[in-house]
Amino acid sequence: MKKQFVKDLAIRNKVNDVFYVRSRRQLEKRDGGKFLVLDLSDKTGSIEGKIWDNVNDLFSDSNPGNFVKVEGDVTEYMGDPQITVSHIFKVSDKEISSKDFLPTSRFNIEDMYKELAGYFDMVKDSDYRKLLDNLFSNAEFVNKFKSAPASTGIHHGYLGGLLEHTLFMLRLSRSVPNVYEEIDYSLLVTGLILHDIGKITSYTYDKVIDHTDEGHLIGHIVRGYEIAKNVINKIPDFPNAKKEMILHIILSHHGLREYGSPITPKFAEAFMVHDLDNLDARMMMFRDETDKNRDVKWSDYHQFLETRIFIKPPVTE
Ligand SMILES: [Fe+2]
Ligand SMILES: [Fe+2]
Repeated sequence: MKKQFVKDLAIRNKVNDVFYVRSRRQLEKRDGGKFLVLDLSDKTGSIEGKIWDNVNDLFSDSNPGNFVKVEGDVTEYMGDPQITVSHIFKVSDKEISSKDFLPTSRFNIEDMYKELAGYFDMVKDSDYRKLLDNLFSNAEFVNKFKSAPASTGIHHGYLGGLLEHTLFMLRLSRSVPNVYEEIDYSLLVTGLILHDIGKITSYTYDKVIDHTDEGHLIGHIVRGYEIAKNVINKIPDFPNAKKEMILHIILSHHGLREYGSPITPKFAEAFMVHDLDNLDARMMMFRDETDKNRDVKWSDYHQFLETRIFIKPPVTE
């Protein structure tokens, strides 16, 4: 088990523990020699590590994707801590505990899954219900659905992130049928549960959270469409119109072509899945920024929210 985690490293600490090399750059020193800049991470975050000497000897041990034992000192660079690495060597994947490298939802995964499964009973339409029952009777699918992250870090980038994100959208949807009576709640709930299922194979989440090749090459929207289509095709006499509406919700949930959807939403339930998706993802970005920036009033510029975030003082009663 690790004892030193990235978030606890302070300037002047000695470092002697295992980290994951997420990426590496080779740069040139003023005297023409080479030095290496590593992105070293664990479940609590990442820190830069610099190798100034013996670059050739330490090169293959510090390959991206390696788990490495790092010895060195925490020093300061432009106000931020970094590790000046004196020694580094690769450790076998078998020697590490994945618990040290995989961040996990702050909510209990089994409790969340039980609550999500409760929504199946709100699907009164027997065809949509059959689709959910078929998909979720597959134990391998359920295990992946419970564990998968919803991203590598933009929002819900941790174990159970997909489940948490889906559950929060379902909770948000509860008032919808009372406000908009024309909404087909069975279709909405089924669409919400299925919208991101392609994420189960778009990310690695056994040792560290990263993209799979499939995640890069196919993406979760097309993959989710395929998973849902394959299950529907095995259900005898599944009405074609319902099949197309479900597949449309999956394909259109990013809302715009420039955000990765091949088609834009074409009916109310599809718009609603897209809007609830955005709402929950944004709320999580606000929460993450607030957690990261407790000591300042304004966050750095946020790439996805396209602004700096005002960090509100804690509410006192
Ligand atoms: Fe998505
Ligand atoms: Fe989503």
